[in-house]
Amino acid sequence: MQEVSLLTGSNCRAKGAAPGFKVAILGASGGIGQPLALLMKMNPLVSVLHLYDVVNTPGVTADISHMNTGAVVRGFVGQPQLEDALTGMDVVIIPAGVPRKPGMTRDDLFNINAGIVRILCEGIAKCCPKAIVNVISNPVNSTVPIAAEVFKKAGTYDPKRLLGVTTLDVVRANTFVGEVLGLDPREISVPVVGGHAGVTILPLLSQVNPPCSFTSEEAKAGAGSATLSMAYAAAKFADACLKGLRGDVGIVECSYVASQVTELPFFASKVRLGRYGIEEILPLGPLNEFERAGLEKAKRELAESIQKGVSFVNK
Ligand code: NAI
Repeated sequence: MQEVSLLTGSNCRAKGAAPGFKVAILGASGGIGQPLALLMKMNPLVSVLHLYDVVNTPGVTADISHMNTGAVVRGFVGQPQLEDALTGMDVVIIPAGVPRKPGMTRDDLFNINAGIVRILCEGIAKCCPKAIVNVISNPVNSTVPIAAEVFKKAGTYDPKRLLGVTTLDVVRANTFVGEVLGLDPREISVPVVGGHAGVTILPLLSQVNPPCSFTSEEAKAGAGSATLSMAYAAAKFADACLKGLRGDVGIVECSYVASQVTELPFFASKVRLGRYGIEEILPLGPLNEFERAGLEKAKRELAESIQKGVSFVNK
């Protein structure tokens, strides 16, 4: 019996052919980009995978393209090829930029990555303004507001389609809680809200499912730069976006998005994903005293990071 595709994405193929969506990775030759490209090539919801970077994409593309999975892979290198990389994409994932290295200040990182994200988002506004955009480049607390400002200037801004990727914080929290409780981390769900740096990362341990209790000492989450676990987290998040686009129901992930959950214009919390991106931003739910104090600290830092991003585009 022949299966009839229920997909509605712009990239639906003819009946009988493998259905799927078109996904671009910008920064595909990097520490995150390469394993992310591998994982997206393995995703059955992806029919076309575009790999863009300013260096090395021909080699990465040749390598990934030898995997005998369904997605067709194409490589693009350098800014003159950005528009071709973006045209027709349903989802664009951005791990382009530099990670913080020893001796580098947060401002150094901000200045480099802010400029990169701006250029890439100008391309998105021009070539695939309806795409769902997943921003990984740090500082996410500022790069998502930067993307929003670029899209506003271009007249293409849709807050439902712009999502900052905070999944690594959730993945880490689930693993950490699983270890402490001696449970399978796949069975754990820790909402992580706020933002994606330092005190703005707020795991809501009082809402862990299955319920459990922690001391405030145990609640200190670890930190560190990541590429492989980040690629896993980004692939998990992109897969949720693709399932939403396909029309699956009940797809909920934490993400840093334009939000009315607090008085801040951007905030990370649980969002429900659907055919048009974000369908619903879920409320924070009850917080304990420790979490309420954390929320106040997080909001102070977030406000500054958001303002910094907005000013960068409008200066
Ligand atoms: P990396 O340096 O290994 O790779 C970055 C890639 O971006 C390189 O291949 C580089 O050529 C490329 N790139 C630079 N300028 C570009 C441009 N204008 N257009 C397209 N590509 C460009 O860095 P890594 O480790 O892959 O990290 C990438 C970003 O992800 C960093 O900003 C890092 O801070 C961030 N990150 C975010 C996390 C999150 O949870 N959201 C977690 C870990 C890292």
